[in-house]
Amino acid sequence: MTHEEIWSIFDRRASVRSFSDRTIDDETVDLLIQCAVTAPSNGNMQPWEFIVIRSQSIKENIVDCTFLGYHSKGGTHQNWIKDAPVIIVACANQKRTRARYGEMGNIGSIIDVAAAIQNLLIAAANLKLACCWVGGFDEGMLKEHLKLPPNVKPIGVLPIGYSTEKPVRKNRLKIDLITHTETYHSKDRKEDTKNAN
Ligand SMILES: Cc1cc2nc3c(=O)[nH]c(=O)nc-3n(C[C@H](O)[C@H](O)[C@H](O)COP(=O)(O)O)c2cc1C
Repeated sequence: MTHEEIWSIFDRRASVRSFSDRTIDDETVDLLIQCAVTAPSNGNMQPWEFIVIRSQSIKENIVDCTFLGYHSKGGTHQNWIKDAPVIIVACANQKRTRARYGEMGNIGSIIDVAAAIQNLLIAAANLKLACCWVGGFDEGMLKEHLKLPPNVKPIGVLPIGYSTEKPVRKNRLKIDLITHTETYHSKDRKEDTKNAN
């Protein structure tokens, strides 16, 4: 693969928050999950679990669990997520990682599931699917609606569908600002230190 080809895989991903009526078949959902779980995990404990939701009433329950988001356009909840034909909720079964790492497994399992979510997002973008990682939710409420046991923590709500909107890549900090050679060299900008101790 050329550098350009590798870059194009990543350059395609951006959060998309509007969906057409087109559905997604089960095979595609399975593929997304297969791609997700190629992620590394602490001790290969693979704490991930995925809830695949197509039911409109459960989607509406999920909306009720969301907070007012930056992109909510004046509402009180993130209503746009219910327009996705499929919502996948990626969860961490923390008992699995705790079995090897004790309490440290709690954070480890979150990191593992975050890696899996990122894989899923990249796979989705390359299948020309629209998706956005939604983390603005009330965890307790969401657990109740999805009947998650106490050891299973929801990490990301992932509304997925097709969009008529072209994904727009947001700017990123320049590589030379965030890359250090051999040891750390402070490159703080005014914006970074404004609220820091
Ligand atoms: C952990 C996490 C939680 C997020 N929660 C929300 C959310 O609740 N609602 C939303 O619209 N976007 C959410 N996002 C998406 C971010 O707003 C988005 O990734 C960021 O603005 C960068 O844009 P991009 O994904 O298009 O590159 C979340 C992203 C992450 C990683």
